Amino acid sequence: MSALLEKIDKKCLPRHIAIIMDGNGRWAKEKGEDRLFGHFHGVESVRNIVEGCAELGIEYLTLYAFSTENWDRPEYEVVGLMELLVSTIRKEVDSLNKNNIRLHVIGDMNMLPDYARSELNEALSITSGNTGLNLIMALSYSGRWELLNAVKNIAFEVKQGRLNVDEIDQDTLQQFLCTSKFPDPELMIRTSGEYRISNFLLYQLAYAELYFTNVRWPDFRKENLYEAILDYQNRERRFGKTSEQIGETKAQA
Ligand code: IPE
Ligand code: IPE
Ligand code: MG
Repeated sequence: MSALLEKIDKKCLPRHIAIIMDGNGRWAKEKGEDRLFGHFHGVESVRNIVEGCAELGIEYLTLYAFSTENWDRPEYEVVGLMELLVSTIRKEVDSLNKNNIRLHVIGDMNMLPDYARSELNEALSITSGNTGLNLIMALSYSGRWELLNAVKNIAFEVKQGRLNVDEIDQDTLQQFLCTSKFPDPELMIRTSGEYRISNFLLYQLAYAELYFTNVRWPDFRKENLYEAILDYQNRERRFGKTSEQIGETKAQA
C-alpha cells in the first residue's frame, strides 16, 4: 500500500471533494502537442481519481469539466471537448455501474449539443440506482449562472404565491441551487498552479479548505490526491470560532 495512503486518517475523510481540473492545454503545449491531446490525457486522470475516491469511500466528488466561460474558446476545442465527453461517457458507463458509482450533472444542460445531452441523460438514468460514490460533473457550469438561476426561480415561486419572502432563509436558497442534494465540499483542489476559483461553486465553497498544486491535470494521480487529503487533515477548520473553542469541542468529543 502507498505510504501516503497509510498516513490518511480514514475516520476524518472529507465527505465531498471538488476539483478544478486545470492545465490540460499547457501540459500538451509543453509536449509540442495540440491542446486537445491534453484533454484526451486528462480523461486518464479522471479515471484514476474517481477510482481513488471510490476506494477511499469518499461520498461525493465534483469535477469541474467545462465552465460557462469555456464556451468562448476556439470552436474546434469546444467541439473536441464535447466529442471527448460523449465518447468517454459511452466507454465508462459500464465501469461506473460495476463500481456502484452514481453520475450527476450540474450546469446549464440546455447549452449542450443535443447528442451530448442525450448521451448524458442515458448515463444518468443507467447509474441512478447506484449507492456508492456520487460523481458530479460540472458541465457548462458557473457559480454565477447557478445563483442567477436560483434567484429567478425563487422570484417565480414568490410571484406564484407558493413562497413567502419572510420565510426565505439559507435553506431555501440551498434548495434552489443545483447542488441541493449534496453537502458542501470540505476540500477543493485546483491543479496546474492557478490560485483562483474561476466561477466554480461560489456559494458552496464558503468554508472549504483550498488546496493548490502545480501538477498539471493530466499528471494528477491517486498519490497527488492522497497528498491533498493529508494536507486537509492537518488544517484546523474553525468556522469563525477561536482555536481554543475548537480544542474544547474536540476534547468533549
Ligand atoms: C482544463 O484545462 C480543462 C478545461 C478547462 C476544459 P485547460 O484547457 O484550461 O488547460 P490550460 O489551463 O489552458 O493549461
Ligand atoms: C476552469 O479552468 C474551468 C475548468 C477547469 C473546467 P479555466 O482554465 O477555464 O480557468 P481560467 O480561465 O484559467 O480562470
Ligand atoms: Mg485552464
